[in-house]
Amino acid sequence: MAKVKTAYVCNDCGADFMRWQGQCSECNAWNTITEVRLGSSRPAMASERRGFAGITRAEVQTLADVELADVPRFSSGYAEFDRVLGGGIVPGSAILIGGSPGAGKSTLLLQVMCQLATQMNALYVTGEESLQQVALRARRLGLPVDRLRMLAETSVESICELADKEKPKVMVIDSIQVMHLADIQSAPGSVSQVRESAAFLTRYAKQHHVAIFMVGHVTKDGSLAGPKVLEHCIDCSIMLEGSVDSRFRTLRGHKNRFGPANELGVFAMTGQGLREVSNPSAIFLQRPEQHGSGSVVMVIWEGTRPLLVELQALVDSTQLANPRRVAVGMEATRLAMLLAVLHRHGGLHMSDQDVFVNVVGGVRVTETGADLALLLAIVSSFREQVLPRDLIVFGEVGLSGEIRPVQNGLARLNEAVKHGFSRAIVPYGNKPKETIAGMQVTAVKTLQQALEAL
Ligand code: TYD
Ligand code: MG
Repeated sequence: MAKVKTAYVCNDCGADFMRWQGQCSECNAWNTITEVRLGSSRPAMASERRGFAGITRAEVQTLADVELADVPRFSSGYAEFDRVLGGGIVPGSAILIGGSPGAGKSTLLLQVMCQLATQMNALYVTGEESLQQVALRARRLGLPVDRLRMLAETSVESICELADKEKPKVMVIDSIQVMHLADIQSAPGSVSQVRESAAFLTRYAKQHHVAIFMVGHVTKDGSLAGPKVLEHCIDCSIMLEGSVDSRFRTLRGHKNRFGPANELGVFAMTGQGLREVSNPSAIFLQRPEQHGSGSVVMVIWEGTRPLLVELQALVDSTQLANPRRVAVGMEATRLAMLLAVLHRHGGLHMSDQDVFVNVVGGVRVTETGADLALLLAIVSSFREQVLPRDLIVFGEVGLSGEIRPVQNGLARLNEAVKHGFSRAIVPYGNKPKETIAGMQVTAVKTLQQALEAL
């Protein structure tokens, strides 16, 4: 008889425990730990009987002897989507696509699947919307609807059974949070259901060489329900980000077993669904003819390409005992740290000033190459000094006021030239060996030198 395993899992963060406890020691939430009866190993055994698992008894072999099945990736029909996946969809991979409700996950996948269905068997499983709703949307967007197979179902076992008959090459599960397995006793949406459903589907993807996209909604704080529990079993995790009121959506890779992670794809939400933005720098740089102080353009590195983004800062005398430090699209702790560096090594103190910074276009900047641009934008606003329109800045700022080089300096400068910029303040370590035509580069070693260069 199959042994039924139990575990104690936190419904909020998905942490595992040996025994029940009142408070989760991972996320400190109270009363979130529930007993979970894990499914028996039945699915795997059943598939072994049917001969899907392939190797039942593993053997040790040399890495060079491992046979490589040549499985070419296939394109989703959207270059930005392929880019985030590392150059196309890998057959048999399990991909998690996360995002807040209304980000456009269903829309994007519907567009991709309608395109793919013209070339291969594709199955779209909707557990949230009715078939009519999906059909209505597809018609309205003018998508090729005649080949895509649709299914409204939330039971994972039934889905896999029907998929056995349909034999799709690519499948969408919208969303993983409404899926359930009969073996698991807790309600759909609970961590144990989500985790076991995702694991079951991932196994199915591997055994049948179906690429499966699983939609996952993120919670308020931006984490997928039980992120830890899903991350180890899926192959790629990508996020569709962007607020509902902003036009642009960014698709970002967080984990990718088949290519570089952290790739960024940009889409625009239009009346006709999501459109690709193939030259993102151009849209993030739409500045008014006369820009004011506090605005600077920086070159950040996203995945495998440079991106030019405008950064704005506003420094204003404060009315509060604790001046405000607000960062949109950046980390607030980094802002606080850089203000301390500015005080110690630049001689400018902002303890009586509110500081607000904003990355234009809803982009989220995580790299340290934005440090110098951030400080110069703050200084520009503080001194009410308008920076030249054709200036770009990048560089990391160290705690002792030194300006550190960043990766791909030359490629960043070349991208800036392409967009008509002719002046740059960059770290000394990124100074190009040969002069770049049409670009006057000021290389700086310290924050002091950068302030003088202004
Ligand atoms: P949806 O794909 O349903 O989001 P998700 O599945 O991530 O929850 O997208 C819904 C949003 O997209 C909704 O706010 C309206 C907007 N939208 C458009 O602006 N244009 C369109 O053509 C479509 C289909 C949706
Ligand atoms: Mg949806």
